[in-house]
Amino acid sequence: MSFYTVEPAPARLNRSELAVPGSQPQMFEKAAASAADVVFLDLEDAVAPDEKVQARRNIIAASHDIDWGGKTLSVRINGLDTHYMYRDVVDLIEQGSERIDLIMIPKVGTAADVYAVDMLVTQAETAMGRRKRLGFELIIETALGMQNVEAIAAASRRNESLHFGVADYAASTRARTTQIGGVNRDYAVLTDPLEDGRRERHWGDMWHYALARMVVAARANGLRPLDGPFGDFSDPEGFEAAARRAAVLGCEGKWAIHPSQIALANAVMSPSEAEVTRARRILEAMAEAERQGKGAVSLDGRLIDYASIRQAQVLVEKADRIAAG
Ligand code: GLV
Ligand code: MG
Repeated sequence: MSFYTVEPAPARLNRSELAVPGSQPQMFEKAAASAADVVFLDLEDAVAPDEKVQARRNIIAASHDIDWGGKTLSVRINGLDTHYMYRDVVDLIEQGSERIDLIMIPKVGTAADVYAVDMLVTQAETAMGRRKRLGFELIIETALGMQNVEAIAAASRRNESLHFGVADYAASTRARTTQIGGVNRDYAVLTDPLEDGRRERHWGDMWHYALARMVVAARANGLRPLDGPFGDFSDPEGFEAAARRAAVLGCEGKWAIHPSQIALANAVMSPSEAEVTRARRILEAMAEAERQGKGAVSLDGRLIDYASIRQAQVLVEKADRIAAG
């Protein structure tokens, strides 16, 4: 282990993150009653320019009036290159309730972007005497943001999570996509001729590098990595396959741009019964070894290494949070 300690972000369930346009207040109650771990109310790209001001009012009212239960509540502000952003932050903090947990910053390009929002949030929070400190969710969705992802991840103590915004990322990098978060048949390997002379085409995951890079930057800074949207909500199998790929790489959750995607994300991002049972047995074996004053931990006749013990702790904590609902 390095002597350097990675401070983990505050622990939250973040298997699913439901996107809700701030201009659609009729959807808020349903979102609050959904099974999503996190709901983000959007002021950015799901809201047309002439609806921005009303959307802000809707969100401020909803932070007071709606019972968000045990959910984490986030608000996606407008980009730093717009004239909406400063008032998004100031009004949310001056007029919104302390029920808001997180601010989501879109299209983060440099560490200085995060620094600038941190400065504004800190001033407004201090002036209002707020007790609760807002955390940050950062969307990595431009070539610039990906180039600077390590510095961005380390830019503020408020940072909690990095999100791969595949739609804007595709636009920024001019990737040849077919649909948001989907695959492209041109990103494929053609095998050499097989025994019978046939050649097979194996489709690949064109987002692998970007997502894997973001996951490393997030984890190296104690943040949660999340995979962003999958646009075709009439394709649950496609969504599930994308979510599984993200989970395998280490993502903690995935966005839901439609309520039907929440249960799929929660299922894929939850540890299985078998995994939880084994993790609990590892921790019991560790406790038993400690009681007996033994340095080495063994289970079913095999030595358990420390990496497995740490993984078991993380998994059991997550399972307990899921059970607590
Ligand atoms: C999300 O904001 C995206 O662009 O995918
Ligand atoms: Mg975007």
